[in-house]
Amino acid sequence: MTKHTLLIWAWALFASFLDVRGQLPRGVVMLDVSRHFVPIEFLHRQVDELARYGIPALHLHLTDAAGWRMEIEGYPELTRMSAWRTERRWEDWWQGDRHYADAATGYGGYYRQEELRALVAYGLERGVTIIPEIEFPAHSEEVTAALPWLSCTGQPYTSADLCIGADSTYLFMSDVLRQVADVFPSPYIHLGGDEAGGQSWRTCPRCQGVTQVDAMQRVNKIVHELGRKMICWDEVFTLGLRDTSVAIMVWRSPETAREALASGHEVIYAPARYCYLDKYQDQPSTQPRAMGGYLPVDSIYGPLLEAPRGASLGLCLWTEYVPTPQDVERMLWPRALALAEALSPKPRPLADFRQWAEQESLNLRARGINAYDLTAEQGQRPQYLHPVKGASVHRPVTYRLPYHPYYPASGQGALTDGLQGGWSNTDGRWQGFLGPVDVVVDLGSKRRRLRRVEVTFLQSTGVEIYLPSRVTLSVSNDSLHWTTVSDERPVADARPDVLRTHTWDGSLRARYLRLQAATDPRGGWLFTDEVLVR
Ligand code: ACM
Ligand code: ZN
Repeated sequence: MTKHTLLIWAWALFASFLDVRGQLPRGVVMLDVSRHFVPIEFLHRQVDELARYGIPALHLHLTDAAGWRMEIEGYPELTRMSAWRTERRWEDWWQGDRHYADAATGYGGYYRQEELRALVAYGLERGVTIIPEIEFPAHSEEVTAALPWLSCTGQPYTSADLCIGADSTYLFMSDVLRQVADVFPSPYIHLGGDEAGGQSWRTCPRCQGVTQVDAMQRVNKIVHELGRKMICWDEVFTLGLRDTSVAIMVWRSPETAREALASGHEVIYAPARYCYLDKYQDQPSTQPRAMGGYLPVDSIYGPLLEAPRGASLGLCLWTEYVPTPQDVERMLWPRALALAEALSPKPRPLADFRQWAEQESLNLRARGINAYDLTAEQGQRPQYLHPVKGASVHRPVTYRLPYHPYYPASGQGALTDGLQGGWSNTDGRWQGFLGPVDVVVDLGSKRRRLRRVEVTFLQSTGVEIYLPSRVTLSVSNDSLHWTTVSDERPVADARPDVLRTHTWDGSLRARYLRLQAATDPRGGWLFTDEVLVR
């Protein structure tokens, strides 16, 4: 460590003891190094690029079911066992036995404290703070597997949650956080708090009467004693934690960011819809597998500019489907430039930003970063961009089975509104059904001549949306007696993210058209955007 680094480090630590507001870095890139491990040298390289573009913090998601990534003295099991898993690819492991291995036989890795200290120093020299995240109390299968006494059952492989009613849990967290605070001078430590199931807590005698908020408060006390502040995912705010020294990282509803700010919390604004980089950045069929959804660089930039005033901005790269460092770079760059530009004193208009980002995607590549080449972008589904022409629109639709309230699109009229969906199931054009589809379109009192019917379904297996196993079209003049005109049972499509259009061509007259679609044998969702009648 150089003298210069030592000085900066000492200042960062001193500053962390001053309880001033506004210390939260204005912008953060979160990288999940649990689902797939990346070498420490790779993190140095990302710090270089974050610094180059003025992004002041790298948040490392160091622990999760898929692997514990930080050396912790006194708990060698965490890195001897839980840093290594039986399958390299996360999806194979997650759909398989979800067991851990050892360095000789498993896939994974971890960072030695010494390596992390060097990374912190490297970041400090370049103005990039490294914010560590230790998940608590959920997403902790790797902890309860290695240290089963930390789960409610005392048995390995039985719980994703730590036992929040046991003192031993807080002794463990205290030991871990002391070392985390020692390695990372960041004034903030992220303690997770998301997606806690609590199944095991309900039946555990020690956990009776203990809430997740109680548990977070106990951990918060430890964090405070270390002179730091806690960041939590927004569940903790929604559940009722009101200590305003806790910063809230909002990943679900943007509205929660406004509420948390109004309640006096510092906020990192990172709603999944605009800020999760695990989505496709271009037409899915042209891209390697991603989690699903569609988030090109342009669709990040606008929402970041409209984030609530006073919030810090965050982009998150979860790596379930990002298996290699090259893939991390492809998913991160140039999309992280949307954050860089949003943080700049005078963010450019979208078109200028876009032009700059294209040029930078080439510059990044010239520096050896595997950035996505924006100049070769295919872009949004053309049908999304243009309203339907030459088809019957605004016809009343009767739902014999309901659409799901989470995915209404434009509601009752969505399937005949002339608007087709894009590459993402959450773009507000796709209507979601948690089960079969059975809808009737009223084509008007006069029997209409039908020449063509087109219906498109969307598959996004990462979020359990599958193409239908059967699609039936029938017609009727009284909506009681139906004549089947088309009955398809297509073979399953193995591609994770794909659209499939079913087309009927013919010539007949009818008042009512009925669309029925059966779910995939795996169950899940069906998503369709429009019943096009020509
Ligand atoms: C999260 O995506 N569970 C924070
Ligand atoms: Zn318990």
